[in-house]
Amino acid sequence: MCGIVGYIGNKKASPILINGLLRLEYRGYDSAGIATMENDKIKLMKNKGRVNNLYKLDGIDSLVGTIGIAHTRWATHGKPSKENSHPHVDNSNSFAVVHNGIIENYHELKNFLVEKGYKFVSATDTEVIPNLIHYYFMQDKIDDNKKILRAVKNTCSDLKGSYAIEILSVYNKDKMIVVRKDSPLVIGKGNGENYISSDIPAILSYTKDFYLLDDNEIVELSRNDVKFYNQDLKEIQKAIKSIEWNALSAEKDGYEDFMLKEIYEQPRAIRETIGAKLDNGTIEIEDLDFSKDYLKDINKIYIVACGTAMHAGLASKYTFEKICKIPIEVDIASEFRYRDPLIDEKTLCIYISQSGETADTIAALKLAKTKGAKTLAISNVIGSSITREADYSIYTHAGPEIAVASTKAYTSQVVLLNILAMYFAEKLERVEKDIIKNLKSDILNLPSKIEETLKDTNQIYEFAKKVYKEKDMFFLGRGTDYAVSLEGSLKLKEISYIHSEAYASGELKHGPIALIENGVTVIATMTNKKLLEKSISNVQEVVTRGAKVLAVTSEDIKNDGISEIIKIPKTNPLISPILSVIPMQLFSYYISKEKGLDVDKPRNLAKSVTVE
Ligand code: M6R
Repeated sequence: MCGIVGYIGNKKASPILINGLLRLEYRGYDSAGIATMENDKIKLMKNKGRVNNLYKLDGIDSLVGTIGIAHTRWATHGKPSKENSHPHVDNSNSFAVVHNGIIENYHELKNFLVEKGYKFVSATDTEVIPNLIHYYFMQDKIDDNKKILRAVKNTCSDLKGSYAIEILSVYNKDKMIVVRKDSPLVIGKGNGENYISSDIPAILSYTKDFYLLDDNEIVELSRNDVKFYNQDLKEIQKAIKSIEWNALSAEKDGYEDFMLKEIYEQPRAIRETIGAKLDNGTIEIEDLDFSKDYLKDINKIYIVACGTAMHAGLASKYTFEKICKIPIEVDIASEFRYRDPLIDEKTLCIYISQSGETADTIAALKLAKTKGAKTLAISNVIGSSITREADYSIYTHAGPEIAVASTKAYTSQVVLLNILAMYFAEKLERVEKDIIKNLKSDILNLPSKIEETLKDTNQIYEFAKKVYKEKDMFFLGRGTDYAVSLEGSLKLKEISYIHSEAYASGELKHGPIALIENGVTVIATMTNKKLLEKSISNVQEVVTRGAKVLAVTSEDIKNDGISEIIKIPKTNPLISPILSVIPMQLFSYYISKEKGLDVDKPRNLAKSVTVE
């Protein structure tokens, strides 16, 4: 998805901007551009394709300006092209703008501006913004130092949709203005210089001190100052937040790809997510103070998220039901937000988002708040938009996840959700204490079991080499093994472009078995001893029809026609997805590599889906 970088200081801006864009590449994009202030004029350079194409443009080295804005675009309105890439300027070349998000009413605004004589050169929604700012700027007869701010404010009141915007203007050449609504933007504070970005990792090598912008805040930056205004242009104060991540954790660190690095980071991510939460007699989670009275009155818990984060919810539902005895519904955020869900003040709504910026998940959270429910966010990014909207926020400590395909965020989310369920269960006292005690110790043993699972990956690699040319695959499982199969199947689709489906094994006979024929690949997960016999029967049903089966199991099973058995350590079935997902992550990874694909940046996908 689109990325934003900005710089205002005393150094040459272009290398800083391009370096920032390179660090945002993982988000997925199709074109890139920068604008710097050169001798009181705006100089624009943009190109279709990778940041490298921008870097190769003639004249890029001659940019010496110390103020600039930059952008990687992921097309929403208008195809990927040089004309449609950002920055966009107004007709008089006085205002340059980069924009993340979508302007929903741009047709209407464009018609208005066309009537006023403005011309458009791109097919984007963004181009209305610099022209509208110019329009309001020219209409304003008061010539004071807030004239541009007023033009930006008036423009923003006309915009419907979501935006994070950086504005450069020849009318205020030593300043920059930024504004956001429903799209992330942070300001990095330096010494005599300031940085802007849509994502912290892009500027983390320059500063660790950040201002996190809230919706509708307008910011005026100079080299030595950052002034914040509300939407009425009243100055407001904001606190600086120091971010603990270091820039190195956003590098590949010797691994061929971020995805592989992140798969191997899972033991550490889990250790850090567990932190000290299980150290004392009863579980303590920072910033949570749910009382027994509140918990026992809860009529339902919704877990709402998108993609992998939603799968983490599905994998954890079993624990909540088993030890809290509360009905759980796991829902897709883009469905939840439009289906008028049954929520009242006795409903708890939990939202999971690695980035904390997923537009649908944030909208689903806002909806629950309007209906009086308590909201709890689970995110990997401190201070992300979702955590600022929710009543309560708790964090996975997976470190920055750069690869588009989520791996360590998933396992950290499942761990944290299980800890949350135990935290509720201890207060509710609806199950025997030993059940919780045993689960705690199983969770504490997870990091070393993940290390064991990651030790020898050769079998998975060899199987991937045999099947990487296939067109379809199936994932089967029961209970939490089914939940993890959904995630395995999503991973495969995302990075190997192989079509796959996950089914609850018991559903096979109700239709999907018609698709099983000689040579079809099936990934069958079997970690629950109680369901083992039934799962093995299902595997036999596909083996007899000629399927090649990769079995992921913690049990001693007979080969019986199974092509490859991947043995993983035994653990409580409630948390087995944290181990069984690892062979699936590696399987998809090896297939993608074998096919020569870009593992970290799969086609059409973005790391952070900040638009609907
Ligand atoms: O940042 P979020 O956790 O809200 O992102 C949700 C999904 O977009 C994300 O999990 C997506 O499905 C991943 N690409 C999966 O690997």
